[in-house]
Amino acid sequence: MKTHAAILYGRRQDWQIEEIDLDPPKEQEVLVKWAAAGLCHSDQHLRTRDIGASGEPVEVAEVPEPRLFPMVGGHEGGGVVLEIGPGVRSVEPGDHVAASFFPICGRCRMCTTGHSNLCDLGAATFVPGQISDGTSRYHLNGQDLNVMAKVGTFAEHSVVHEASLVKVEPDLPLNVVALVSCGVTTGWGSAVYRAEVMPGETVVVVGIGGVGINAVQGARMAGAKNIVAVDPVEFKQKSALDFGATHALGSMEEAIPLVTELTRGQMADAVILVPSVMFGDLMADALTLTGKGGTCVVTGVAPQSQTECSINLFELAMWQKEVRGVVFGAANPRFDIPNLLDLYKSGQLMLDELITRTYRLDQINQGYQDMLDGVNIRGVIAFD
Ligand SMILES: NC(=O)c1ccc[n+]([C@@H]2O[C@H](COP(=O)([O-])OP(=O)(O)OC[C@H]3O[C@@H](n4cnc5c(N)ncnc54)[C@H](O)[C@@H]3O)[C@@H](O)[C@H]2O)c1
Ligand SMILES: [Zn+2]
Ligand SMILES: [Zn+2]
Repeated sequence: MKTHAAILYGRRQDWQIEEIDLDPPKEQEVLVKWAAAGLCHSDQHLRTRDIGASGEPVEVAEVPEPRLFPMVGGHEGGGVVLEIGPGVRSVEPGDHVAASFFPICGRCRMCTTGHSNLCDLGAATFVPGQISDGTSRYHLNGQDLNVMAKVGTFAEHSVVHEASLVKVEPDLPLNVVALVSCGVTTGWGSAVYRAEVMPGETVVVVGIGGVGINAVQGARMAGAKNIVAVDPVEFKQKSALDFGATHALGSMEEAIPLVTELTRGQMADAVILVPSVMFGDLMADALTLTGKGGTCVVTGVAPQSQTECSINLFELAMWQKEVRGVVFGAANPRFDIPNLLDLYKSGQLMLDELITRTYRLDQINQGYQDMLDGVNIRGVIAFD
């Protein structure tokens, strides 16, 4: 069939809307019609992975990227199943689904020990070809297209492996479902599962975008006493207060005296780093903010070549601090996506309020510009 998709041809280029050829689903594959796709910063990294949040080029070594482009973008999506291929058992036509930006095989060591965000299938995320047989279902002028996170939600339709889909209740708005498929789960899980926030704790969240705002929500729901939101953009600071932050400031430097005062010098139990682009030099202030026995969680994605950071190793040991990376909120998407949507239904998780602006697919470059300009908590593409 023919469908429209936003395609990236290479670094530092705009998204191009193209009519592409999509093959029917093969073994264990599903044809999905997306209703909504979220504009997560991770797709922006694809476009300018070595460019700082300010738009200034950062000197980094070129990362070899065999056959990465051209690529259909997008990994946050909510949609409806149109057709299933042979052997599909988990969904049927008409079902509503969220994309899972890492697939979940359900059988590997990580899946079977409750860490399905680390499923072995995730290792091939950027390698071209379908999970089932390595061939492509997406073509443009006879050329195979790569697909972001094997889901490619910046397209009207996708053919994805059933491992990349999570069935959700049909009465949920699909724009909200789209956000839970990455940003909400990642941010909320960064606080609840990875920082293991407990009632009464002090938490600092650095970077209030579509992901960080949900770390604020996670900390709130886990019962944190102080939630200090850090973002240079005033609108983000105000939004953080609406989502449950108790304090909001423009930089970690400013947060150090505040957290010192709030905790009588004990400092934060958890610091969660979710800036647009993660850089090693952010670690010094982050670990100053992290108290004795505290945890510093790194959620934000750094340029792949970023191998150095400033950590006071004496304090790391003597204050028994922990630095933890996290992907997909350390969540189990098949449990956590429906669970978070239930918490939305019961009024405990704010999701409608995350969507600042809605765009058509052909407005995607504007959507990303608005993200970089700091005017959106989350922008969402709405398909017809
Ligand atoms: N680990 C994961 O599984 C995972 C999943 C999704 C997204 N991410 C990453 O999380 C990061 C955030 O994504 P997003 O979609 O929320 O981005 P976003 O662009 O919507 O928000 C980022 C926010 O960080 C702020 N910021 C930038 N530099 C800062 C600094 N030094 N101090 C404080 N705030 C700063 C910006 O003003 C912006 O509000 C990205 O790097 C993204 O790739 C990681
Ligand atoms: Zn994402
Ligand atoms: Zn697995």
